[in-house]
Amino acid sequence: MKILVTGGTGYIGSHTCVELLQKGYEVVVFDNLYNSKIDVVDKIQKIAGKPIRFYKADMLDKDSMRPVFEENQFDAVIHFAGLKAVGESVEQPLRYYQNNITGTLNLSELMNEYGCKRMIFSSSATVYGSPETVPITEDFPLSTTNPYGSTKLMLEGILSDFCVPDPEWSVVLLRYFNPIGAHESGLLGESPNGIPNNLMPYIMQVAVGKLPELGVFGDDYDTPDGTGVRDYIHVVDLARGHVNAVEKVTSAQGVHIYNLGTGNGYSVLDIVKAFEEANGVKIPYSIKPRRAGDIAICYADPRKAKEELGWEAQYDLTRMCQDSWRFAQMYNGGQS
Ligand code: NAD
Ligand code: WQD
Repeated sequence: MKILVTGGTGYIGSHTCVELLQKGYEVVVFDNLYNSKIDVVDKIQKIAGKPIRFYKADMLDKDSMRPVFEENQFDAVIHFAGLKAVGESVEQPLRYYQNNITGTLNLSELMNEYGCKRMIFSSSATVYGSPETVPITEDFPLSTTNPYGSTKLMLEGILSDFCVPDPEWSVVLLRYFNPIGAHESGLLGESPNGIPNNLMPYIMQVAVGKLPELGVFGDDYDTPDGTGVRDYIHVVDLARGHVNAVEKVTSAQGVHIYNLGTGNGYSVLDIVKAFEEANGVKIPYSIKPRRAGDIAICYADPRKAKEELGWEAQYDLTRMCQDSWRFAQMYNGGQS
């Protein structure tokens, strides 16, 4: 089977390519390399010991995507490409709606035209807004607090609508919780530009000495230690969830929605402690005010993915911290 991976040189996409290749799928990637580097292609091939086909293409430029479809017949598309920085989306909403929504519409038009109507879409736990209780099941009410999240919620609706008039369309919406970690080879990981917004990339830069200390955003939440609680999931576990989703999208019709999380909630201070203990490094921190838009607690009920996809996360927090640290050491805190 041949799978198109959009955004396949990015953080989650690159790990997914490795898992797909290792399971025997043929993999074609396109990316505009806005938030990733071309050398990731070689790294994927090196780890998997198999080739992939890469196209430099932009979802906003349909002509640049056309050769990808002209030269390949796909069984399914895994659609990672998109912009993902929450704060930036508040500053530049038009750019986020344009890239994520228009880009996905352009991609979908080509999928229709070339007769591949199966998509696995990268959604996010951000579509649950501020959940009233945890753990979160897929039928919780949906809402968003920023343009990035709104693009995810809108695209969930748009892609679901495709399945109404056309029984050939099949869509799997995967709602990721908080991916961290890196490939055990140390070759693939998350490389944010500039000062990181997310917790683990920030910790990695403190660990290598590029940043002096971590600011912990609030210690007065209604959580066991007062700091925010999240469901951190190893990126390789997340990647494997996509392989199971390929089986689903190629065998079922309509829309299927799954949380991809571990079901465990860890606080910011839990993560600091786990990173220190797993790696023998000190992470200095100080308490800062709450970050606007943050919620207290968010973790998944991942049972539906286990029951229907046969998938569940395998790696524990220690392993996530060890793999993050290996990548950070090889790539200067995750920034080469
Ligand atoms: P990433 O930025 O590492 O990867 C996304 C890739 O898409 C990048 O390589 C980028 O260059 C590419 N891209 C962006 N716009 C493009 C365009 N117009 N045309 C072609 N390529 C384009 O991000 P990631 O962390 O791997 O996330 C992948 C997907 O998962 C995104 O859709 C993101 O919103 C979603 N997601 C991520 C997280 C997370 O915490 N990382 C959580 C939930 C959902
Ligand atoms: C985790 C915890 C912070 C940085 C974001 C997006 C979400 C999804 C995943 C894409 C929170 C605290 C963080 C720091 C801190 N992405 N923190 N100091 O906010 O749960 O989710 O990424 O879909 O949509 O919103 O992740 O890693 O930014 O924060 O104290 O320097 O760490 O307050 O409690 P978040 P995060």
